Amino acid sequence: MKILNFGSLNIDYTYQVEHIVRPGETISSQGLEIYPGGKGLNQSVAMARAGAKEVHHAGAVGEDGRWLVDLCRENGIHTEYILELPVRTGNAVIQVAESGENCILLFAGANRRNTPAYIRKVLSDFGPGDFLVLQNEINGLDVLMEEASRRGLFIILNPSPFNGTVTACPLEKTGLFLLNEIEGKELTGKTEPEEILAEIERKYPDSQAVLTLGSRGAVYAGKGERFRQEAFPVRAVDTTGAGDTFAGYFITALAEGQPVPSALAFAARGAAEAVTRKGAVPSIPYREALTGENVGNASAE
Ligand code: RIB
Repeated sequence: MKILNFGSLNIDYTYQVEHIVRPGETISSQGLEIYPGGKGLNQSVAMARAGAKEVHHAGAVGEDGRWLVDLCRENGIHTEYILELPVRTGNAVIQVAESGENCILLFAGANRRNTPAYIRKVLSDFGPGDFLVLQNEINGLDVLMEEASRRGLFIILNPSPFNGTVTACPLEKTGLFLLNEIEGKELTGKTEPEEILAEIERKYPDSQAVLTLGSRGAVYAGKGERFRQEAFPVRAVDTTGAGDTFAGYFITALAEGQPVPSALAFAARGAAEAVTRKGAVPSIPYREALTGENVGNASAE
């Protein structure tokens, strides 16, 4: 069983600021760090560090992004499907406030150069039982979902950042939604977590969903079951990449055949570690580094 993550690779320009800049305001930052990032790359690294055996990343970079491909390789991720194109690598301008909150501005660059031919060629190497992991920082999501469904892959969609591209996709083909409250509201038009999950169950009865609630934990809905996982209390330094860490850890646990409650606990532990350190990729913990303390199972409702 293989995991294919067809996703973004970004260079993150991360500015430390006292507060996130307001419209019309000019402020000085307290520092700039350049990190590897992109929701796609972060989730591949999270899966690899969580112990996933065979993670393949597909996507594209420019010449300036070769170091991102090297980083994938150093983390044990298969990189044979990553293209190098004559355009700039995707990047993100990130402000991290003293409170740990962030805001992100994206430039897609090579991430939006996928062609149907390239997508079909990559997917031709995958089949029933394999996982396809998607986020919304690349183009071609609709083609990816159609083709993956036709080939029998299990589609995991993190519809982040949420926009009209997501709603234009054949979402009923999604096996598992991984989404936060903002994305859940956009997808369903509902505001309360329970209403969001109920609406996803109504609209997509064959799908499972995990709704992450930040410091309030996460809730799983699917197959007629509900499980709730508390977040582990930590002092947040930088939340960038925490959602990606949760996603990568949860997917890895599912791929290992762990039951949903223990997969939720594993993911929550990984994400808790991630917010205690700066950056996206640098903050993603290795499975061996998780202490195991407080890794209790999620509770059924
Ligand atoms: O989820 C965090 C990521 O979002 C950052 O690494 C940035 O590149 C953006 O894609």
